[in-house]
Amino acid sequence: MITRRLLALAATPVLAVLLAGASQGDGGTPGAAGAGDPYFPQSGDGGYHVVHYGLTLAYTPATRLLEGSAQLTSTATQDLSSFDLDLSGLTVSAVTVDGKPAAVRRTGVKLQVTPADWLPKGRTFHTTVEYRGVPVSITDPDNAADGWIAQPDGSVFVAGEPQGAMTWFPSNNHPLDKSAYDITVTVPDGWTAVGNGRLLSQRSSGGRSTFSWHQARPMAAYLATAAIGRFQVAQTWTAAGLPVYNAVDPREAKAAAPVLAQLPDVIAWESSLFGAYPFDAAGAIVEHVPTVDYALETQSRPIYNVAPDIDTLVHETAHQWFGDSVSLESWRDIWLNEGFATYTEWLWDADHGGPGTAQRFAQYAALPAGDDVWAFPPGDPGDGAHLFATPPYARGAMVLEQLRRAVGDPVFFGILKSWAAEHRYGHGDTAGFVALCETRSGKDLDGLFATWLYGQGKPAQPGAPAPGGATPTVRHHA
Ligand code: TRP
Ligand code: ZN
Repeated sequence: MITRRLLALAATPVLAVLLAGASQGDGGTPGAAGAGDPYFPQSGDGGYHVVHYGLTLAYTPATRLLEGSAQLTSTATQDLSSFDLDLSGLTVSAVTVDGKPAAVRRTGVKLQVTPADWLPKGRTFHTTVEYRGVPVSITDPDNAADGWIAQPDGSVFVAGEPQGAMTWFPSNNHPLDKSAYDITVTVPDGWTAVGNGRLLSQRSSGGRSTFSWHQARPMAAYLATAAIGRFQVAQTWTAAGLPVYNAVDPREAKAAAPVLAQLPDVIAWESSLFGAYPFDAAGAIVEHVPTVDYALETQSRPIYNVAPDIDTLVHETAHQWFGDSVSLESWRDIWLNEGFATYTEWLWDADHGGPGTAQRFAQYAALPAGDDVWAFPPGDPGDGAHLFATPPYARGAMVLEQLRRAVGDPVFFGILKSWAAEHRYGHGDTAGFVALCETRSGKDLDGLFATWLYGQGKPAQPGAPAPGGATPTVRHHA
């Protein structure tokens, strides 16, 4: 016990490591500070799994003050003497583990928690973190802002990919760790707070409104949201009975309406291609945030910086299967998210009077060797600064078009469905995808992936026609 107290108070990381070593055998060792991602080595902690987050938040738009209480139900995946949560900024006033005060040490964005009693492997334990402060968004390696992004008018755009979840709640901040969530947010009357999943309740008292959201299916921390605005809200149901909750900034309402009206059709169309929609709620959060230039596939309810066009709606909805239900094990595999969502745009356009996928492919293939699309191989962005550059999107989609030509439509669409089904609510990696493609097609596809996914620069014959010269068309396979 004394050893662990000392550990918590250890002044330097070196001392902490030495003391942790000393405690080995009787009280576990610290969870690795970082889930092991080469692009974001600090993110997450490999020593425990969060089963459920209960986030109870209050936000005051006028002062930007966020007051939070996080209750994490976790399982130790090793004997644990201490573990890390990721939290950027904000003031922590109290941390308990299983009801007892825990020692806390903060270094950068790591919040090291040393429980009074060590946690044996397999133990389920409860952590509470009381915190408050004015959240500050993260500047990603690519200079984009993410996390809790407050606007001058008091509204908040909350989008955590890849790192920003830690700007508003303590988490095991890596997509390897997926959890159920309850997100309850209290805001002044007149404001609406929108989270993921189903709205369980909405109450008002004493001039404040409380919104309780429940996400039952496993969700990566970066996909959590608690967007705040003076939204126009519409609650409807799709023909299949799926609840749809749309929250739209009034300034974007006119532009958003015709696009959001298509969401049920987009969900039905994508379900016919990829299998049943993975979540029990849907919808959109449409804000008016000119300083952010991206949308995010926040689970079950994407968040848009402005009214989306139909391609963006199709893209973020496709991520519900590819990215949200089937999650990355490593950020290096970002093409499994972005290439698939981009190819879904191509499929939608092909099926709705636009150019065919072969034509889209040819347009990119015609770009000169110096174009951004060839800047790096989509399967190997190199670092966290290039996740959202052109190659994982457009050239990632080109990989799928090449795959489709190589294996034919029935096998190709069967692969997409199997990928979504076999890894539903879990994870997938590129090696697993390649293996599935080879098994289903009975073909050696190493050359195709070596050229299109991993080859440096523009491939030699990017415009090579499909076998037999046929122009692929979209087919739905039930
Ligand atoms: N994943 C988002 C999409 O393609 C894009 C995105 C999320 C992004 N976070 C970002 C782009 C940060 C640039 C910077 O729908
Ligand atoms: Zn995307």
